[in-house]
Amino acid sequence: MSVEAKRLRPPLLAALFLSALLLATLFAFARKPTPSQPTAAQQFKNIQVLKKLPASQLIPVMREISASLGVRCDFCHVRGAFQKDTKPTKRIARQMIQMVQFLNAKEKILHGRATCYMCHHGNAMPITKAPMRPGA
Ligand code: HEC
Ligand code: HEC
Repeated sequence: MSVEAKRLRPPLLAALFLSALLLATLFAFARKPTPSQPTAAQQFKNIQVLKKLPASQLIPVMREISASLGVRCDFCHVRGAFQKDTKPTKRIARQMIQMVQFLNAKEKILHGRATCYMCHHGNAMPITKAPMRPGA
């Protein structure tokens, strides 16, 4: 080892140690009070899949789902009792959400781009057969 390298070493270690300390403090701060956002599961009554979603995101997600299927809220929900699982469409939707989460977590080829709209394109019942073009 050259003399140069030997002389550089301790300051380098000290610098590394200091930056590690700094990072640790930063993370400690990041984890501290900032009145942490409630999750959807904490704020709503019957959340089984979107548990970790920030509560503030639940309604935007619901609007996105409705737009993707071209339906209104009552396609899945009993008016005035959103927590109820009375309608089969709500129970299917829950499974569909899980499928999309699975696709985004496991199917790398999709690059995390799976959405309800990907298949539904504004239809409650996705069109799964290509229209035949005359002459094609
Ligand atoms: C295609 C079905 C579907 C549509 C349309 C839909 N939702 Fe939902 N909604 C769900 C499902 C499924 C859950 C439960 C999610 C879970 O278990 O993680 C849910 C949960 C909710 C909850 C939480 C209820 C509770 O207390 O547990 C609210 C509030 C809600 N939706 C509002 C809406 C609103 C407002 C609309 C219209 C803009 C809407 N939803 C449209 C399927 C739907
Ligand atoms: C990979 C394609 C695909 C994706 C992504 C997808 N769906 Fe579906 N969905 C389907 C198919 C196909 C059907 C019809 C299944 C059948 O014939 O029973 C369906 C049916 C449904 C139905 C029942 C409709 C009815 O009229 O009975 C609901 C509700 C639904 N999907 C909600 C969702 C929601 C919400 C999402 C996003 C979280 C989603 N789907 C994402 C393919 C998909």
